[in-house]
Amino acid sequence: MTHTAAERSAGQPSDPRASAEPTPRASAEPTPPARVELEFRPAGLRVRVPPGVTLFDAASWNGIAIDSTCGGHGTCKKCKIRIADGTVPVSPLDARAFSPDELRSGWRLACRALAGTDAKIEVPPLVTRPKAATVGVGRQVILRPAAQKRYLELAEPSLADQQTDIERVLAALDDLELRVDLAVLRSLGARLRSADFRVTAVIVDDVLIDVQAGDTTDRLFGIAFDLGTTTVVATLLDLRTGTPLAVESMLNKQQPFGADVISRISAVMLKPAALDEMSRLAHETLAELAGEVCARAGASPADIAEVAVAGNATMTHLALGIDPEPLGVAPFIMAARQLPEVLAADLGVPAHPRARAFPFPAFGAYVGGDITAGLLASGMNRDARTRLFIDVGTNCEIVLGNRDWLLATAAPAGPAFEGAAIRCGMRAAPGAIESVSANPSQHGAHQLSSGPYGQGGPRMPGNSDGQGNSDGQGNSDGQGNSDGQGNSDGRGNSDGRGNSDGLSLRVIGDCEPTGLCGSGLVDAVATLLAAGLLDRSGRLVSDDVAAQVAPALAPRLAMLGHERVFVLHWLGEPGDVAASIYLTQRDIRELQFAKAAIATGWRVLLAEAALAESDVQQVLLAGSFGSYLSPASAIAIGLVPSLPAVRIVSAGNVAGEGAKMALLSVRERAAALALLEEVRYVELSDRADFNDAFVEQLQFPG
Ligand code: FES
Repeated sequence: MTHTAAERSAGQPSDPRASAEPTPRASAEPTPPARVELEFRPAGLRVRVPPGVTLFDAASWNGIAIDSTCGGHGTCKKCKIRIADGTVPVSPLDARAFSPDELRSGWRLACRALAGTDAKIEVPPLVTRPKAATVGVGRQVILRPAAQKRYLELAEPSLADQQTDIERVLAALDDLELRVDLAVLRSLGARLRSADFRVTAVIVDDVLIDVQAGDTTDRLFGIAFDLGTTTVVATLLDLRTGTPLAVESMLNKQQPFGADVISRISAVMLKPAALDEMSRLAHETLAELAGEVCARAGASPADIAEVAVAGNATMTHLALGIDPEPLGVAPFIMAARQLPEVLAADLGVPAHPRARAFPFPAFGAYVGGDITAGLLASGMNRDARTRLFIDVGTNCEIVLGNRDWLLATAAPAGPAFEGAAIRCGMRAAPGAIESVSANPSQHGAHQLSSGPYGQGGPRMPGNSDGQGNSDGQGNSDGQGNSDGQGNSDGRGNSDGRGNSDGLSLRVIGDCEPTGLCGSGLVDAVATLLAAGLLDRSGRLVSDDVAAQVAPALAPRLAMLGHERVFVLHWLGEPGDVAASIYLTQRDIRELQFAKAAIATGWRVLLAEAALAESDVQQVLLAGSFGSYLSPASAIAIGLVPSLPAVRIVSAGNVAGEGAKMALLSVRERAAALALLEEVRYVELSDRADFNDAFVEQLQFPG
């Protein structure tokens, strides 16, 4: 049995994890851990964290700096704190750092102190400043990469000192419990002796991956990959400082196998050899980008000790050569949520031959590692505010929640936002119309035409000459455009009728428009709705109605064959609709289906949480499309909850940011893994109420 939204809102507790009825999928999910409350003094900040988190992490996650020069490795003994109230067991390292009296008074090393019960903690003022980098959505990350280098000056063996070579190295690293790659032993003897026992140990996590001659500690790099279905982005990071040294992006070379994940899974289902081919193409993409960022920064690939990869489940499966077929058929099962130890070489990345790779864990077949990375970067799991995270794409991932609970779902939005399935659609590349707006005073919007000012309504301030628009986006020459071919600034309206109808376009690359990308599509539909040229059902109005409600824009409505279209930009001979950039009735339907899928997704999550739209304190629009989407237009078409536009914010490329965080901090990486236990996945496809909700959401807001 599943509660309806009304039943939930009538007296259900507000924590949806506590209130949710078990569904077949939910019952398989592990029980979320309880939280303990920590109060840090003198700041007085109270935070709630899962038990087992170190007090050092709990503090740094919440912006409280604790003294440290080792970043939580347990080697500097500077992270001293006092437990003023509560119980924190004494760690072996505490016994070496404090006197028995100090231990009795509650002194502990924060990086070794595990939160187990509610506690009040005194944090002494900083003596040294921990190294930190700002990544994610304004997140401060204390640097503690899994990859580290240590310079060692070792005593040479003698008849009196019979330690083996590896014992000699490990004894100098006695604060770490290390495993050793066999390949290290193969060259260790010669390396130590040729370098007079002055060497650098290269460590990733708990593995000694190399012993290098001399001091190489000034060269330690990592690459964060955002492995998208369409675009792949690589960022080279200096792991000692957190500084991004170079960024490059390119189209995923798997494109010939289809634009979306379903096409690529289908390709493998039809022809099993396609798996090897797509795996090879993923490796080629990653390798080419790695080469480019290294060349740009003057870094040697051999100094890359680790890479992190944030990709959806299909991209991750394909890159690792794992059969993706079960992802594409019900009940949509991944090979693994969390992958076993992976080397950069397994992904084809040219790096140190024993460099490690961290593929982000995924919540489900359609809420993948890119979303785990995005949630990490946006701090959804640490924020008291209830926020809605929407990664708009062919498959749209949606997460609702705050630091106490998180619900996730995936909505099949289709390719409309990528420009596919739209007649004049294109990717967000030079020539794409990315923004559309109209000045109501010029097109004579219906809201104004019936008022006391008559058709056209009152003049807007700053735009009283009726010739040029002055919104900073369109043609601002104040002369109108009368050449019949459009103006050449590439930004204004070049429709051959002048811009006196008030329609303005913004084009990527400031060039002649050649198509319409996702953000332009949403803007165009929002503009038509505002002008009264599109009714709530999504139907373009008749010529008669158009002439009445928006006389200036009405001539842009035309027929192309049997289909009704709205011309955004005239090209070719005057009146040549086919040569122009236009929006068709069918395009509008495509957008309706996409927005209905997404709106149904977040409405289902709100119902699960027994919350209303107004309870959402912030909407984060993630992904490259989300970054360019106009909040006002997104609200106007019902893509996001109806909230003040300032609450709708672009989160940028959060997947890439999350990948950077995982490289810079093992603590953040642990937080990403912990997210798997904190997020409850809500499957839309098996819900009885999905179809009705979807049909309802096809309408545009009234
Ligand atoms: S010992 Fe260095 S941070 Fe704890």
